[in-house]
Amino acid sequence: MKEIIRLEHIKRDFQVGEETVHALRGVSFTIHEGEFVTIMGTSGSGKSTLLNTLGCLDTPTAGEYFLDGISVRTMGKNERATLRNRKIGFVFQSYNLLAKTTAVENVELPLMYNPSFNAAARKEKAIESLKAVGLGDRLQHKSNQMSGGQMQRVAIARALVNDPAVILADEATGNLDTRTSYEILVLFQRLHAEGRTIIFVTHNPEIAHYSSRNILLKDGRIVSDTYNDNIQSAAKELAKLPVEVDN
Ligand SMILES: Nc1ncnc2c1ncn2[C@@H]1O[C@H](COP(=O)(O)OP(=O)(O)OP(=O)(O)O)[C@@H](O)[C@H]1O
Ligand SMILES: [Mg+2]
Repeated sequence: MKEIIRLEHIKRDFQVGEETVHALRGVSFTIHEGEFVTIMGTSGSGKSTLLNTLGCLDTPTAGEYFLDGISVRTMGKNERATLRNRKIGFVFQSYNLLAKTTAVENVELPLMYNPSFNAAARKEKAIESLKAVGLGDRLQHKSNQMSGGQMQRVAIARALVNDPAVILADEATGNLDTRTSYEILVLFQRLHAEGRTIIFVTHNPEIAHYSSRNILLKDGRIVSDTYNDNIQSAAKELAKLPVEVDN
């Protein structure tokens, strides 16, 4: 399989007053196309810093990062922004959708920076992406008119709309109840089955059972990196959960 991400001895220091915080202390790994990687570790271990690095939202203090074969360090700011827009889809814990804006409009956003799509093409792609996450019947709903699970689906549709090389998720199920979390996991597993590359940061050790690989961070270092040869089915787990009755 093709190599999508290669990190070589990535370090990230933050200067806070007199003190230097070593958030990443030399992280190296390679991720190939089609992997579903969970990244775990206690609070402060460097997960978000690592994800921000992978998403070109943050620049390492030292080390090399190759995204789809391109050295991110050597790129200019604009070039990097374009690379981020084309190659990476982000999903956050708090959805990060525009309020009072429809699902279609939210999903269209990443395409605004892509001159190869006009307004009609943007809309068509956004609708296609929303249908793919099971929201074909919520196209015109605004963010504040949707449930948490639906908002997260919109965010996933937005992450997918550019057909990115990799999807980065930071605690994407962190705000959701158990049942909705499994529904979102089912969706991620389907994307994985379709060949998508996913990197999913989580506190929840259960989620590692549904991914193909788990990287464990501690104090800015990788302490284990294991492949899962017994991937569990989130759909099966979902089917076992009791159905909640509204009252
Ligand atoms: N912008 C920043 N300035 C200074 N220190 C920072 C900054 N961002 C992160 N850190 C520090 O770097 C370390 C790693 O932070 P990071 O946010 O990556 O942890 P995390 O594993 O995502 O934690 P959590 O599980 O709580 O989200 C922490 O000690 C944090 O205080
Ligand atoms: Mg974090």
